[in-house]
Amino acid sequence: MDPDDHVCLCFHVSLRKIRTYLRAENPPVASLISECLSAGTGCMWCVPFLKHLHAQHQRGEVPDLKISPERYAKERIKFHASGERDEGVVKEVAPEAGGQELDRGPSPGVDQ
Ligand code: FES
Repeated sequence: MDPDDHVCLCFHVSLRKIRTYLRAENPPVASLISECLSAGTGCMWCVPFLKHLHAQHQRGEVPDLKISPERYAKERIKFHASGERDEGVVKEVAPEAGGQELDRGPSPGVDQ
C-alpha cells in the first residue's frame, strides 16, 4: 500500500495517518488505534491489518501492508458478503494478527 491508501475503508483512515498516530502515541495495544479517527470500529474488516501494523511498529519497523488497495478493497467486499474473512489473505498480509476479533463478521448495519 502507498501511504495515502486507506487501511480503514469505513472511516477513510490512511496508512499515513496510522503511521503518524503510532509514532506520536506509541499505543501499548493495537485496539487503541481506534483513537485514530475511529479506525477499526466499523465493519471490523481492517482489525487484523491494524494489529499487523501495530506489531510492525512495536518491532521498530515502518508499518506497511503488502497488498494492493484494489485487492484489499475486493477482499473486504467478499468479507461483507460472506461474513467470513479469508484467512489466507490475513496470513499472507498480516501474519501477526490474531485474537477474537478475527472471528467476527461484519457489524450489522455497516454497508460501505
Ligand atoms: S474497514 Fe475498518 S472498520 Fe471497516
